[in-house]
Amino acid sequence: MAARLLDVPEVDARLPEIITAYRAMYAMAADEGYGYSLELIGYSRRDGFRLAAAFDDDDDRVLGFGLGFTGLAGQIWTDSLAAAMDPGVSNEWLGGHFEFAQFGVVPDMRRRGVATDVYEVLFADLPHDRGILTVIETNVPARTFYEAHGWTTVHRDFYSPSGLGPYRVMGKQLHGAAV
Ligand SMILES: CC(C)(COP(=O)(O)OP(=O)(O)OC[C@H]1O[C@@H](n2cnc3c(N)ncnc32)[C@H](O)[C@@H]1OP(=O)(O)O)[C@@H](O)C(=O)NCCC(=O)NCCS
Repeated sequence: MAARLLDVPEVDARLPEIITAYRAMYAMAADEGYGYSLELIGYSRRDGFRLAAAFDDDDDRVLGFGLGFTGLAGQIWTDSLAAAMDPGVSNEWLGGHFEFAQFGVVPDMRRRGVATDVYEVLFADLPHDRGILTVIETNVPARTFYEAHGWTTVHRDFYSPSGLGPYRVMGKQLHGAAV
């Protein structure tokens, strides 16, 4: 098992395996998650898109993946964050940042370093100077992971446009920082 970057044609070709992993990560039923395929295709056409995935030894099962793209004004998530944050904080962090938008590992492969592997490949030589992510406040495994990788809290109690939350917004200066 080793993580690697997938280019956009490979993301398109391997969408079924990625969606299967996504369903497993969030304990969804087999008939759920179709909306996410459209979301992912949309993300993959954005500037700065990058997706890293770890596969099993036969290269046919996605064990975990992470993705992001350049966060810009006009994107609903970035605009919602900007509206919620103090102006000084949003000016410092938002716009041209790497929006770390998805990250997870299938349940039966957790606590074996898969997320660490995916994360290191995703962030290696990233051109962006700042990263931003949002994590549900009660998600201790993910928050612990991010804190261990140098992410700090820049805003709390963020609710998504559809009312999900509360999220913690975390940021990291990327240039020159250890992955
Ligand atoms: C968060 C997640 C991606 C971690 O994946 P993983 O492959 O188990 O992580 P790793 O094995 O690489 O663990 C690296 C570090 O993360 C932290 N961590 C991972 N799982 C943890 C847990 N259950 N509790 C506390 N810390 C945890 C630890 O610091 C761990 O280091 P350690 O094993 O030396 O203690 C995984 O739990 C997951 O997919 N969760 C569901 C999806 C999700 O919530 N994604 C994040 C959305 S913001």
